[in-house]
Amino acid sequence: MTDQLKESIAVGLERARARTKTLTDAVDDAELTKQHSPIMSPLVWDLAHVGNQEELWLVRDVGGREPVIGDQIDQLYDAFKHPRPDRPQLPLLSPSESRVYVEEVRSKVFDVLERTPFEGRPLVEQGFAFGMVTQHEQQHDETMLATHQLRAGEAALTAPTPPKPALDPATVPAERLIPAGPFTMGTSTEPWALDNERPAHRVELDAFWLDTFPVTNAQYAGFVAAGGYDDQRLWSQAGWTHRTEAGLTSPQFWQRAGGTWTRRRFGHIEELPPDEPVQHVCWFEADAYARWAGKRLPTEAEWEKAARHDPATNRSRRFPWGDDDPTPELANLGQQYLQPAPVGSYPDGASAYGVHQLIGDVWEWTSTTFTGYPGFVAWPYREYSEVFFDSGLKVLRGGAWSVDQVVARGTFRNWDLPIRRQIFSGFRCARDAVRDPDRNSAKVR
Ligand SMILES: [Fe+2]
Repeated sequence: MTDQLKESIAVGLERARARTKTLTDAVDDAELTKQHSPIMSPLVWDLAHVGNQEELWLVRDVGGREPVIGDQIDQLYDAFKHPRPDRPQLPLLSPSESRVYVEEVRSKVFDVLERTPFEGRPLVEQGFAFGMVTQHEQQHDETMLATHQLRAGEAALTAPTPPKPALDPATVPAERLIPAGPFTMGTSTEPWALDNERPAHRVELDAFWLDTFPVTNAQYAGFVAAGGYDDQRLWSQAGWTHRTEAGLTSPQFWQRAGGTWTRRRFGHIEELPPDEPVQHVCWFEADAYARWAGKRLPTEAEWEKAARHDPATNRSRRFPWGDDDPTPELANLGQQYLQPAPVGSYPDGASAYGVHQLIGDVWEWTSTTFTGYPGFVAWPYREYSEVFFDSGLKVLRGGAWSVDQVVARGTFRNWDLPIRRQIFSGFRCARDAVRDPDRNSAKVR
């Protein structure tokens, strides 16, 4: 059993490293050391930071070994010591030094993996520390993708275009009813779940409607065309202030050319695909759109119930489709494409309630501010999530095309500032299921 787990850990580590290499080999040394945006690190910082975290947790802590090249580099790659704007000025390892460093760390880690029994310490039970480090590298790969998207100049990354959707979205209802009742949120059993996903707890919800698909580019363009960005009534007070100060008029990377919308995607200018979920919108934009549509953003609990609860068995699944790990037929994950897939692309990945594309494609903003679940215990360190609680950060759920399956659990929680939109963020809308004379189908109470 442990041998099998160790083998799958090795595969996961290799998969993360292959992606890191793709993202860092795609550009030259000057581009690796340059800061492409003040809100992002130089790519070479991410690279050596990934290796440094891997060294700290797996080589030194789990393995009990000496520093690989000395511990004086630790502070350079401590994300809490140096905010992103300061990182280019640090005496960082060069691209070639960084590559050698991460390789040395990795070879030691494979040795530690082979020799470590997965017992005796909570940190190694079911390979947790290895899982945490694999997830960490994959999350930095996603951050590096955002840097690539912000970078100016020629395209450096390539991937195929998603195929035509298997299902015509017009053939299924636009919203799904999630009846009132309790469900189990979070997890106490998923071995690599992080502290903020724990513990499992019962949550009671009223009935609500949730959009079957994420909001598309065409739908969002309707909001822009209707003057949504100029109508203060649609925006929260903080949202309106931000919209005005930042001069927001459309999602990031959209451009108006003649009568049509185009977008810039990893160095390519292309026509906006109408049926693809909208991405690069901030929470304030999602919130304003929802109000314009006569709806609201779902709470995090509503999102998770729609994604995981199975009314037939009254239990929560690991994923919308069941307990099996994701496959390319079920969800758009792992940078298989460099974009979301059109709505209707994953009918087999729908949840028990018939909600589609909850996992993969785009991160989905929820109305919930990031905080701990009842019974939360910080582990293995406070800085993983507790220091971010209750500070106005909004929760995003479901992963995106840009995340690997190792971080796409149904319980996985992401969070960010409500102004952020360089991330691969979209949303879907919800509304209360109350008696409404104009909507016969909504009479559920
Ligand atoms: Fe990190």
